[in-house]
Amino acid sequence: MNSDLDFYNSLELSLKYTEDLLMDAVTNSKSIFHSPTLCISDSPRTVVLREFNKEKRFLRFHTDLRSNKISSVNNNVVAYVHAYDPEIKVQLRIKGKVNLHKKDERTLQAWESSRDMSKLCYSVKGSPGQVISDPTEYDLVKSEIDVEQGYENFGLIIFEYDEIEFLFLKNIGHRRSKFSWINNNVAMEWLIP
Ligand SMILES: Cc1cc2nc3c(=O)[nH]c(=O)nc-3n(C[C@H](O)[C@H](O)[C@H](O)COP(=O)(O)O)c2cc1C
Repeated sequence: MNSDLDFYNSLELSLKYTEDLLMDAVTNSKSIFHSPTLCISDSPRTVVLREFNKEKRFLRFHTDLRSNKISSVNNNVVAYVHAYDPEIKVQLRIKGKVNLHKKDERTLQAWESSRDMSKLCYSVKGSPGQVISDPTEYDLVKSEIDVEQGYENFGLIIFEYDEIEFLFLKNIGHRRSKFSWINNNVAMEWLIP
């Protein structure tokens, strides 16, 4: 077996591989897992992975507080994060709970470490999803905008997970495994793919 596939028959290494994929995805914009689908009850949407903390088991995403999803992100509502990378043939389905942060210490820290280009999106003069007649009126020109004003509209979605399902496709035999946490204890199981 190729050493790249050490995880193939090991639950422990499958979990480690998953965590390594997520860690890499935070800074690697070419990774499929950098822009996974966040599925909240009302709708799925693509979001950029900004932080992964495997010890505290959370993913962090940034969003506009005026967007439709905000009404669904509260009080530990159940959500999923999903992505499939066809090159490495790995699907991750992560189950957790989402919470919204605005104008707190964590939000400020994330804002201050964002680049101006990322901050700029939060200065659009209207809510994402609003019906408009002329899209050109909503184009943003950095030189004409004080990007710091966008902080008013900037929020964090913290996705705390307690279950990961890992699926790896291979012609000689697929591998599917499930990792579930109760408190800090992880249970690892193989599933029929
Ligand atoms: C590659 C890509 C990355 C995106 N990243 C984010 C993101 O990090 N946060 C976000 O709120 N929306 C992001 N979006 C836009 C969302 O998918 C969605 O269209 C938007 O948040 C409006 O959702 P809503 O009106 O249903 O709340 C991204 C879209 C794409 C295609």
